[in-house]
Order: sequence, then C-alpha cells, then structure tokens
Amino acid sequence: MFNKLKNYTNGSVYPFHMPGHKRNSELLDGSLPYSLDITEVNGFDYLHDAKGIISEVQHKAEKLYNCDNSFMLVNGSTCGILAGIRAITSYGDKILVARNCHKSVYNAIELNGLTPIYILPEYDNEFNIYTVINPRDVEKALIQNKDIKAVVITSPTYEGFVSEIKEIASVSHKFNVPLFVDEAHGAHFGLSKYFPQESISLGADIAVLGLHKTLPALTQCALLNVKSKLINICELKEQLSVFETSSPSYILMSSMDKCFDLLLKEKNKLFENYYNNLIKFYNDVKNLKHLKVFLKKDEFFDFGKIIISTSNTDISGTELSEILRKKYNIELEMAYDCYCIAMTSICDKEIGFKMLSDALIKTDEGLTSSKNCAISKKDLIIPEKKYTSSQTRNIKGETVSLDDSRGRISLEYIFAYPPGIPLIVPGEIISDEVINEIKSLKKFHIDLKTSKIPVNEGIYVTSFLL
Ligand SMILES: Cc1ncc(COP(=O)(O)O)c(C=O)c1O
Repeated sequence: MFNKLKNYTNGSVYPFHMPGHKRNSELLDGSLPYSLDITEVNGFDYLHDAKGIISEVQHKAEKLYNCDNSFMLVNGSTCGILAGIRAITSYGDKILVARNCHKSVYNAIELNGLTPIYILPEYDNEFNIYTVINPRDVEKALIQNKDIKAVVITSPTYEGFVSEIKEIASVSHKFNVPLFVDEAHGAHFGLSKYFPQESISLGADIAVLGLHKTLPALTQCALLNVKSKLINICELKEQLSVFETSSPSYILMSSMDKCFDLLLKEKNKLFENYYNNLIKFYNDVKNLKHLKVFLKKDEFFDFGKIIISTSNTDISGTELSEILRKKYNIELEMAYDCYCIAMTSICDKEIGFKMLSDALIKTDEGLTSSKNCAISKKDLIIPEKKYTSSQTRNIKGETVSLDDSRGRISLEYIFAYPPGIPLIVPGEIISDEVINEIKSLKKFHIDLKTSKIPVNEGIYVTSFLL
C-alpha cells in the first residue's frame, strides 16, 4: 500500500478531489506529510467494503494473528469497541462487563441502552493494583443472569495483567455467549514465545488490538480481529461504518501495512532483541532497596509493562514520575498514587532501558522506607445502580459540590485518569464510600476526569435527587 501511495502521490495525476490541502506543500511549511495524504480515490479500495489494496493489507493481519477476519481501524481501538459491542448485542440487552473497562465500553453501553452486570478484577495487595478477571466470577454471573448476551473484558489491563482467556471463553461458550476482549494493550501478543498468547487463539470470539500502543504503527491505528461462528460479520461491517470515518487516512493505513510487513519478515529478531533488553533491565533493578519493580514471568503478565511501585517509599508514584521527568529527562506512560508505568516495545533501544535503570537506581539511593500508600482499593464496592446510563441521558440535574452530592444519583462518570475503574457511572448513587475514594485520590494529586465539567479546585458532580 505504501508503495502504491508513493507512486500515486509522486505521479502526475492532478487531484480534483479531497483532501483540501491538495498536497500543496508550498503553502504549508512542509513538515507534516501532506504530500502523502489522500483518502479513498480511484484504485485505492474502500475501507467499508474492502476488495482491493485494503483487503490485501487486512489479509496480512489475518495471517499474522491467525484469525478469520481482521479489520483495520483508523479511529483507534475506541471505534472497534463501539462497533463490536453494538454488533454483538441488541438494544436493551444485558451484558457482563469488567468494571475496569475503558470508557469506550461504557459509551457503548449507553449508546445501546444496555444493562451492565459488573465483575471486579482481582487485586494485588503488594502493588495495590487491580489485576485479572476470575473465570469463576464470569461463570457465577452467567448462572445468575441467564439473559446475558455478551461478555466484555479488558485483557491485558493497562498495567499488563492477562486474564485466563481460555477458561473465560469456554465458560462464555457454555452459555452460548460471545467473548469480546479489549486487547488494546496486547497487539504484540502471540507474535513471539516471550509474550502471552493473543486472546483469539485462546478462544475469544472478537478482540480489539491497539497497534499504535505497543507496535510500530501511527497513533490511532488499531485492529478488530474475529474468529467465531457467534459473530455476524455483515452486522459487524455495518457497525464499523457507523463508528468509523468514511475518509480513512492512507498514511495511517500504510503505517499498519509497514508494521505488518516488518513483523512478517523480522518479528523473531525484533522480539528476541526486545526480550534481551527487558531481561537486562529487570536484572539491573532487582536490588533496589525501596522502589520495587513488578515481575511475574508467566503467561498472565506482559512484562513489557514496567510497573514501579513506590508503596514502601516516602514518595508517591506521581512524585517519582516528576523526579524522572525533571532530573533524568524520562517521560513515563502514567503515574498513580503508589506506582508508575513505563511502556516499552520492540522499538525501544538498549540505551533507553539503561537510562531508566540508572535513574531508578540513583533515585532509590535517596529514598527512605515508609508505608506511603494510604489508598487501598481492595474493598472497592460497585455503587448501587438506580438507572442504566442511557435512562439518565436526558435528565438535566444540577451541579453540586462533592460533599453535597451524597445520596444523589450521578449524571456523569468520574474516572481516575489514565484509564482505571470508574468511581461512579451515570445512574449510580453517590455514597459516602464514593466520596471518600474521590477525596483520597485527589489528595494524592491523581488526575480525575469528570465527563461534564473539569475537576479544578473543588470537585462538582452533576447529579439529581431521586
Ligand atoms: C484498555 C483500553 N482500551 C481501549 C482504549 C482506547 O484506545 P484508543 O485510544 O486507541 O481508541 C484504551 C486507551 O487508552 C485502553 O487503555
């Protein structure tokens, strides 16, 4: 695709078509790739009815991930999640959802008037992190709710924890229910012996993979992979055309093509090099005194996610990330109350891993031991639901301070950002526990996002009284 794109854009065809910049780099400063930017023109196929060059690229993805259908996504994993959930449910259905799902899953629930039954992931007490979905919890929920129409979980999680997909798929199939896996952080799975298997090969029916998150593809590139008799492909295509642009970027799609070519040709070498860099890094930081780097070398953890715990130190995760930014010129993926995450990939260089290990060793020397992590989310409860999110859609409500919201029904989401478990979802009752959790996260300078108004000095919640 990239070669075809280059030939076309270097050629003499005059573009009386979109995009409006007409590849006229003289008017613009030329630093953005205008000269390569086209959308669907004659000979370049159609994303929503791929039969030519786009379908060829998708076949490469099918080969790479060993699935029946792979759809390129140019609007991120988000559009795959919205389309996928809509395709496997009917309006008003009940679905089983892991509470730690990304907000796009919550948006799919609202748009499709779904009733969610939530399951909480397990919790790691040492690192204060939610981890995996237990297949027994899935089974219990499916037994108790015979009308559940789909199961949606996130695996790996943002932190890299991988659920027992084989078990969860088999339980779901016992009830004739498809398993949708948000594998946005696992596009590098199944491509080498060093990382967990991808969910489709373990029995998941449909999975979304965020190529841009852990593989060399441009931001927004993702895949929706399918291997199942339970998924109606025509319906899925229709829903993709609802949620995905009708003017796909060939720069984005070519970056996926290049990514697949690279992997098909060189994945063994690239993953081996990546693995060796990671092993060396984990070895270099194994004797830290106060900071702790999580390591679990089995098929239920993506050890390309480097989790650094500050639980036993006198600083928070956010403070550690500030130190690394200001003193060592290192920008991490995210920082939370008791830990930080560094994201890595096959494109990282040895020097990068060395920078991080040296910085952690130096920082550790200046720390003292302390029990710093005041927040324990272990006992987090899911707030009582009075309405589904779609039932609250047209209620106006009032915006009141967090303290005054006690006992009211939320009309918005409050998330700790980056992705985590929502503290409250529209339609749920704002209890004392919710208020206390929000306050303690705020105390630790965790970035909180509400869906209606930004959290500035105080926290205000749009809500209504029953
Ligand atoms: C678990 C998970 N799923 C889905 C998404 C959405 O991905 P995208 O930003 O590519 O739309 C994210 C984004 O961070 C995520 O963390």
